Amino acid sequence: MNEPSDALVFFGATGDLAYKKIFPSLQSMIRHGHLDMPVIGVAKAGWDLAQFKARAKASLQEHGGGINAPALKKLCALLQYVDGDYLDPATFTQLRQTLGGAAHPLHYLAIPPSLFGKVAEGLAQSQCNKGARIIAEKPFGRDLKSARKLNATLSRYFSEDAIFRIDHYLGKEAVQSLLYSRFANTIWEPVWNRNYISSVQITMAEDFGVQGRGTFYEEAGAIRDVLENHTLQLVACLAMEAPAGEGEPLRDERAKVLSMVRTLTPADVVRGQFDGYRNEPGVAKQSNVETFAAVRLWIDSWRWAGVPFYLRAGKCLPISCTEILVEFKNPPQQVFGRSSGGHPNYVRFRLSPQVVLALGTRVKKVGEPMAGTDVELIAQRHPKDEMEAYERLLLDAARGASEFFAREDQVEQAWRIVDPILGNAVPVHPYARGMWGPKEAAKLIIGEGTWHDSSHEANEKNS
Ligand code: BG6
Repeated sequence: MNEPSDALVFFGATGDLAYKKIFPSLQSMIRHGHLDMPVIGVAKAGWDLAQFKARAKASLQEHGGGINAPALKKLCALLQYVDGDYLDPATFTQLRQTLGGAAHPLHYLAIPPSLFGKVAEGLAQSQCNKGARIIAEKPFGRDLKSARKLNATLSRYFSEDAIFRIDHYLGKEAVQSLLYSRFANTIWEPVWNRNYISSVQITMAEDFGVQGRGTFYEEAGAIRDVLENHTLQLVACLAMEAPAGEGEPLRDERAKVLSMVRTLTPADVVRGQFDGYRNEPGVAKQSNVETFAAVRLWIDSWRWAGVPFYLRAGKCLPISCTEILVEFKNPPQQVFGRSSGGHPNYVRFRLSPQVVLALGTRVKKVGEPMAGTDVELIAQRHPKDEMEAYERLLLDAARGASEFFAREDQVEQAWRIVDPILGNAVPVHPYARGMWGPKEAAKLIIGEGTWHDSSHEANEKNS
């Protein structure tokens, strides 16, 4: 199907995601001239359209960078609201009527995955799935078995090219920029392999806690919440082979490299929980859910055999940043004695809070006899994402462009990788707020290396 979507329907319209991400994205889309179709919210809140519009306004005030009056006016003119239970066929009959002549609706499931099946069924029974596309919000299942079941359920009512599994990391400017750099240059490819690279580290750190999402987090934990999806997508973008072109080949290569990632075992993982997590609202007093996870993974491919990929993600860490460090091997000889040592070459991709692509290199110190120092060559630095990930992905889905969405096989591979380390496969170690997780995480690093400390780059925050 090539036709662009002609109506946007979002389920979970009164929920958290809509409030924090969807309304702000809609305002941006309008400001950029990208939204001109009816937007229908569906929820069971007993609201009317006026209350729904008031919610949109409050969302823009709090999360949309403030209200843009013309954009809000236009958004309010596009908004419609259907109040009803997702289990009640009448809700979908009403939705079909509200859709009017729209022939290619885009249905966004911003609801818990346990409801995906029922909503997909309701859409099919009311014919709302005809000519339609569907966006499934993460988490896509909670383990391999449930992800497979979800895939089977959705594919009963929608074809794969109409299903858009969202992972907002793929919509980030920084992630697309990383992919672009890898495959729009010749200099990386000759060294992008086990012969030159000694290790890869990915850190997704947040300096805040669960922010009132205790109940959700108890069901998720760091592995399900971000490691299984966001950080594995980063691994895929870093490690994939060159695609034959844009579009589906990008998804082919991401899925292929994930299929070569070795399934994790308990020996590859360290879990942590920040002090005080158990006192958060919605959290069990004896909770063993992890707020930090670190893993060491291997890709059994010709390119990556023997190169450890270290991933860590956590809440209440010293800073908020997402950063990738690709470290190269040392030169074979230290020609200039100890002074040629220093830090090996590396590529640093900082994905947030700002976008930086830096090459770590060693140069001679001016004046001193053959003594060196480490410097960074900054290839790219831009402080602010122009288009938020959700806006970009909503636009892509409305156009039927799926290259930055997860495909069925890819989500199943990601769950296959983490399946054995879910739950209480390993103990959870406490850590103090503001630390880089529990000290046990250091043991994952092979040899004399350590986790890269991104803190010193924190002052880039405002650059
Ligand atoms: C979400 C997780 O998917 O990603 C959150 O549920 C996390 O727990 C968020 O905070 C991080 O996204 P970003 O874009 O702020 O890095």
